[in-house]
Amino acid sequence: MIKLNQALCLFWTPQRGWHREMSTLYLLNGKIVHIGNGGPTRFEKEFSCKGLIVLPGLIDSQVHFREPGLTHKEDLFTGTQAALLGGITGVFEMPNTLPPTTTLNAYEEKLSFAKDRAWTNYAFFTGGAKENLDHIAKLEALPNSPGVKVFMGSSFGTLLLDQDQDLVTLLKNTQHRVTFHCEDENILQHNKSQLPPNPHVSLHPQWRSVNSALSATLKIAKIAKSLNRQIHILHVTSQDEAEALKEFKPWVTFEVLPQHLTLHAPDCYQRLGTLAQQNPPIRELNHQKALWDAVTQGLVTTLGSDHAPHTLEEKAKPYPQSPSGMPGVQTLVSIMLNHVNAHKLTLERFTELMTLGVVKAFKLKNKGLIAPNYDADLTLIDIEKEHVIKNSQMVSKSAWTPFNDMKVKGKPISTYIGGQLCMQEDEIVIDKPSGQPMWFDKS
Ligand code: DOR
Repeated sequence: MIKLNQALCLFWTPQRGWHREMSTLYLLNGKIVHIGNGGPTRFEKEFSCKGLIVLPGLIDSQVHFREPGLTHKEDLFTGTQAALLGGITGVFEMPNTLPPTTTLNAYEEKLSFAKDRAWTNYAFFTGGAKENLDHIAKLEALPNSPGVKVFMGSSFGTLLLDQDQDLVTLLKNTQHRVTFHCEDENILQHNKSQLPPNPHVSLHPQWRSVNSALSATLKIAKIAKSLNRQIHILHVTSQDEAEALKEFKPWVTFEVLPQHLTLHAPDCYQRLGTLAQQNPPIRELNHQKALWDAVTQGLVTTLGSDHAPHTLEEKAKPYPQSPSGMPGVQTLVSIMLNHVNAHKLTLERFTELMTLGVVKAFKLKNKGLIAPNYDADLTLIDIEKEHVIKNSQMVSKSAWTPFNDMKVKGKPISTYIGGQLCMQEDEIVIDKPSGQPMWFDKS
């Protein structure tokens, strides 16, 4: 039994919504067993949370950890280590590995790689592909998977499912929420053919245009509506999509990324070159403003890092041979707490996007709340703590961050996972990885 004293907790109840309350938490056998006065009198350890705010464990619902096949960029050990140091207690990992996670075998292999090597809890998406459409129902029903993810436009890796008929079949053959990367493959190919010789990376938003993102987003939203199916759209980047999706609220939940809320074109391409190259791209300020509006108006459901590590050597290739994607799992919480301090969103809204929002979209079990019988996963933050983000702090194999040298206010200080203190003050304080697969309601 662990007792947490003086815990200023962010609770959520249906009656009161999010609210802050000073309390005492008791953790036992991986669960929150009691909250408040009159708790058990025997406990092995007691910690004070004075000066910190206790959030339900934050979940990053989009990371690429590259194992198997691309482990020179990242693996499940280093990726989850970065997550843990960043204040994350659970991750949803993406299927564009080598081989892609499109078969039961590949999925089970990934689970076996994660066993005893993950520092946070984890869950693996499977990939929707032409070859697995007829047995996709089996893959989406896996109880430790958030479901099926589809690339409608090719990005990094080989996954692609872009034909209308295949998308209809996919949604007809599934019953749980399916997750989409929305860029229109035909428009992407056409735009790429129009790039000048030796293009500068600042043309990335032209190649991967608003029109391409909007076209794919509208296509899949309309199919979902016509079949009355639920979908989730990853990394929405444009004002046009954010506005168009208002009409599809009953069928579509969507995600935004910290990099799209923090960086903008053309500045990011001038400062960072291909390090700012990401699919779908970072766009101009009017799009960023629309994404913030969508966050504060409650239209956005989740916030993920899209942690997509590539080595600096790979990123240094001439554009457009340089791969798209940037690491982010270790910086997500600090970057967003800085936005909380800048009054861009409330701490409650931020927390919701990384806890309850994820739970609701994916029917994640026993997580996302500080409540009795819930899993004892907690992220403790110091909302006042100022610090400077540095490449040298990054434990991802990629060892860089687009936010190098950024001064931020607000920091994750410690995490409890399964009732165990795992990270404290930038140190991992457990001897070995003890992350567990997460469970989803597939009834
Ligand atoms: O920029 C990106 N990189 N977008 C994606 O969709 C994939 C990711 C990666 O895996 O590198």
